[in-house]
Amino acid sequence: MRAEVVSMTADNLDMEAIRRGGDILKQGGLVAFPTETVYGLGGDALNPQASMKIYAAKGRPSDNPLIVHIAEFDKLAPIVAEVPEKAKILAEKYWPGPLTMILPKSDLVPQETTGGLDSVAVRFPSDRIAQELIKAAGGYVAAPSANTSGRPSPTTAQHVEEDLGEAIEMIIDGGPVGIGVESTIVDVSGDVPAVLRPGAITMEMLKDVLGEVTIDPAILGPMAAGVRPKAPGMKYKHYAPKADLTLVEPANVAEARKTGEAVAMTQEQVNAMVETVWKLAKEKIDAGYKVGIICTDESRSHYPEGEVRSIGARKSQASVAHNLYALLREFDDLKVDYIYSESFSQDHLGQAIMNRLSKAAGYQIYKV
Ligand code: TXA
Ligand code: MG
Repeated sequence: MRAEVVSMTADNLDMEAIRRGGDILKQGGLVAFPTETVYGLGGDALNPQASMKIYAAKGRPSDNPLIVHIAEFDKLAPIVAEVPEKAKILAEKYWPGPLTMILPKSDLVPQETTGGLDSVAVRFPSDRIAQELIKAAGGYVAAPSANTSGRPSPTTAQHVEEDLGEAIEMIIDGGPVGIGVESTIVDVSGDVPAVLRPGAITMEMLKDVLGEVTIDPAILGPMAAGVRPKAPGMKYKHYAPKADLTLVEPANVAEARKTGEAVAMTQEQVNAMVETVWKLAKEKIDAGYKVGIICTDESRSHYPEGEVRSIGARKSQASVAHNLYALLREFDDLKVDYIYSESFSQDHLGQAIMNRLSKAAGYQIYKV
């Protein structure tokens, strides 16, 4: 099977194609679609066979639960056992948007969708195409990122086609996504809400409306043997580029990641970091290797040799998040031996950026 690719924009929806996509989902098939974070691989969340198909298409372990996407507020109540007060506050403030909440599930949600857990992850995306497709499918669409397990999440329909073009029925191409990193996951079942995966709804934004918020220690660094992250997906080896990737980072920022504390970098730290990235890259270039460098718009001119690619503007965290996964895919295609990357302030969206980058580097950090 080769997936049918249909193109549309949020301002110019192809409702006929969306109806067909909805029918495919209702019949237990799979449709990939854009969201504001990354592309999702959708299946009917209430159909256990559809969830099994999602795991198979992605090559993903079936104990790694899926996020259930809704497109209307009143679709929440039927799939959860209760809605804690803090969840109501978050939904009111940040839905629709890049926020996933972990809630106790109701019997309507099959164990296959939640990887055997009694809780369910729920998200109400803001993307118009996603919303219309979810409604056309009956209201509940399970959707992990639409990549093959182990590859970077897809931020364009072309990425989806590369990975899953042969495995699913339809891909809706809505152009490049806006945010570029997956949604923030918050567990609101305990007294103190806990972030299980940082994203565009930042720690700062959550504390703003909830007061105290913790971060699951399992996501802060290399996982110690026996530690179980609350989001089962975080335990799997995430995407690692084919090349040996080293992040260069100021020591205090690297240290702060162990506690989840927010820290910005000074200009002096940035300068020292750029100098070190170049020194390390140059040593390998002189030794005859093909070397990739992840720089920023601001630092590009400091790197005279190597496969130099800007990940975005340091002054715009949004631009860095937006380009991150596409750049990692590009380096795989370039077949470099080593990659040296600058790192970023660990505050606001920077926490999500550094979470993904440090995982991609297998926590190989060169401290300056
Ligand atoms: O932005 C996103 O969230 C994207 C788009 C498509 O919406 N989806 C996404 O799904 O990133 P996925 O499957 O790639 O990541 C879902 C994460 C996994 O780490 C999974 O373990 C965790 O959410 N998760 C799902 N259900 C959970 C639950 N009941 N308890 C704890 N973690 C859960
Ligand atoms: Mg994923």
